[in-house]
Amino acid sequence: MSNVLEAHELTRHYNVSRGLFKPAATVQALNGVSFNLEAGKTLAVVGESGCGKSTLARALTLIEQPSSGSLQIAGREVTGASKAERRQLRRDVQMVFQNPYASLNPRQKVGDQLAEPLLINTRLSAAERREKVQAMMQQVGLRPEHYHRYPHMFSGGQRQRIALARAMMLQPKVLVADEPTSALDVSIQAQVLNLFMDLQEQFGTGYVFISHNLAVVRHVADDVLVMYLGRPVEMGPAEVLYERPLHPYTQVLLSATPTIHPDPDKPRVRVSGELPNPLDPPSGCAFHKRCPYADQRCREERPELRLIAARQVACHHVERLE
Ligand SMILES: Nc1ncnc2c1ncn2[C@@H]1O[C@H](COP(=O)(O)OP(=O)(O)OP(=O)(O)O)[C@@H](O)[C@H]1O
Ligand SMILES: [Mg+2]
Repeated sequence: MSNVLEAHELTRHYNVSRGLFKPAATVQALNGVSFNLEAGKTLAVVGESGCGKSTLARALTLIEQPSSGSLQIAGREVTGASKAERRQLRRDVQMVFQNPYASLNPRQKVGDQLAEPLLINTRLSAAERREKVQAMMQQVGLRPEHYHRYPHMFSGGQRQRIALARAMMLQPKVLVADEPTSALDVSIQAQVLNLFMDLQEQFGTGYVFISHNLAVVRHVADDVLVMYLGRPVEMGPAEVLYERPLHPYTQVLLSATPTIHPDPDKPRVRVSGELPNPLDPPSGCAFHKRCPYADQRCREERPELRLIAARQVACHHVERLE
């Protein structure tokens, strides 16, 4: 299988003003994220609010340039690409957002919005475009008469189907979905997730699926990347991480996820404290202030990712936790 995405040490820093008489500060929103994504596979990115998930999404979809690091889309280097090359690359990576209403044009008929990518990027005739749009609408569970309706005439779940249909019109190599079901009713989340999976199977698209909810991700992920304060803390095959999470933070995220069959034998890891201020990240391991296992070394020395038990994990004490 070929890689549709290769990210190497992606980093994004923001300079933020802290007020009139204070020096500007830097938020390290994304710090050294590396991964490969194969066609037809799903990488889930999870972590608490502010850990850099959307920043990663914006870098992957070329909405923002990374501060450093490199990115390849379908084998082509993004860093240093010309404007024309970037335009071409943008076609290959599409995005679906949490709020589909914000990404749809309220004044344009749904059918025309779906046809637009074809109009801009292909030489198809009006009739051919229409045919493709109707086929895609059917695939995402919309009826032919929906072609002439406006976004406000649909439910939230239907709007997310429309947003997904539009993202898939040009059959991108990669789809980045940023919390695509978080704003939906629990009752329809599963349907929309199934639709994501159906389309992936059909088109072989690589997915980067962002969520704070490990339960949602469980059914879609092939690999999981857990982020904490801009850095990857654990990454590996989904079944490995769910079966035996090694990083204390992954354990926390998992034990916070309600399960149908709670296992009384598995210790529940509790975490105290808030997410640290990203403008003033803790020394050493960024998780040390909330970690029940932290010691002097964790306060002083930042753990690098290491390959242990079939996944990469950044923790000084994994061996002890294993
Ligand atoms: N344009 C920006 N300027 C300054 N700081 C930013 C900017 N965008 C993001 N940040 C900061 O970068 C960090 C990561 O933000 P990001 O939006 O990527 O988090 P997230 O994981 O998507 O969170 P959420 O789950 O709330 O969507 C946060 O501390 C945020 O305040
Ligand atoms: Mg976000």
